Amino acid sequence: MIIVHSVEELISHTQNMRDSIGFVPTMGALHEGHISLIKRAKEENSKVVVSIFVNPTQFLEGEDFDAYPRQSLSDSEICRLAGVDVLFMPTSTSMYGEDEISIFAPPIRGFILDGSSRAGHFNGVLTVVMKLLNIINFHKPQKLRAYFGKKDAQQLALITQMVKDYFMSVEIVGCEIVRDKSGLALSSRNAYLTTQEMQKALLLSKSLYEAVKLIMQGVLETKIVSASMEKILLETTKIDYIAFVDREFKQLQRVEIGNTIILVACMVGSTRLIDNIWI
Ligand code: PAJ
Repeated sequence: MIIVHSVEELISHTQNMRDSIGFVPTMGALHEGHISLIKRAKEENSKVVVSIFVNPTQFLEGEDFDAYPRQSLSDSEICRLAGVDVLFMPTSTSMYGEDEISIFAPPIRGFILDGSSRAGHFNGVLTVVMKLLNIINFHKPQKLRAYFGKKDAQQLALITQMVKDYFMSVEIVGCEIVRDKSGLALSSRNAYLTTQEMQKALLLSKSLYEAVKLIMQGVLETKIVSASMEKILLETTKIDYIAFVDREFKQLQRVEIGNTIILVACMVGSTRLIDNIWI
């Protein structure tokens, strides 16, 4: 595995990747969720590139940019063992200049839910993903596939839309959420949780499983399902939102089987956690 730190070096190392490239962008502190994306990229492409970059533009003032876990040594070992060909760990100055053009998230879908609680967050995500995809696509391989988790469902939807809206030559692949045995969706931010908070964090997936149970019993009114999720979550967390949207992120009044995503965001102590389930 080759590790590169600058855009120029990456462009020079992708020069010979003429066939298919699987690209997995991350912010590091890699866990099984990230590894599942890398494995899928490995299965479906002849070369795999992973990026680890704690992107400053997607963190708002007062958020955890400084505290975000950075563990480049163990992360690079994980990538090496997973069979990654090139690991890109750029510096901020390699990725960003001064007074730059940014990508703006769409006014409606980009500024609801996480885009409302974290206004401006998705502008930063879309801008960095656009940059990363353009770098990897520099030599125009036959096929570029980029892998994203359904865990960040709104992010996945917006990136899919950006690629379509900007006629970009890349296939966005959405991957299933990886959970631990107790149902907790893996996240780099779980590292912030105390043992006691870990128990509270379980309520997110518990509330989603309760929703599925009700839906399977034929309860399709989102208000009713939402109320029973609220009951579970309010025990010990502070709810940011419970939402029912279709695959395009339009709000739903009734669950549509095969076209619904149920999302929750909660504060557990001072950590904001998100989770969702695709129905
Ligand atoms: P990060 O949070 O490191 O996540 C990188 C990728 O891993 C994302 O596509 C995310 O959805 C996926 N992922 C995280 N937890 C997962 C889980 N439990 N199961 C499956 N996939 C999971 O998302 C980002 O970084 C950044 O916003 C990024 C896209 C890299 C842009 O900076």
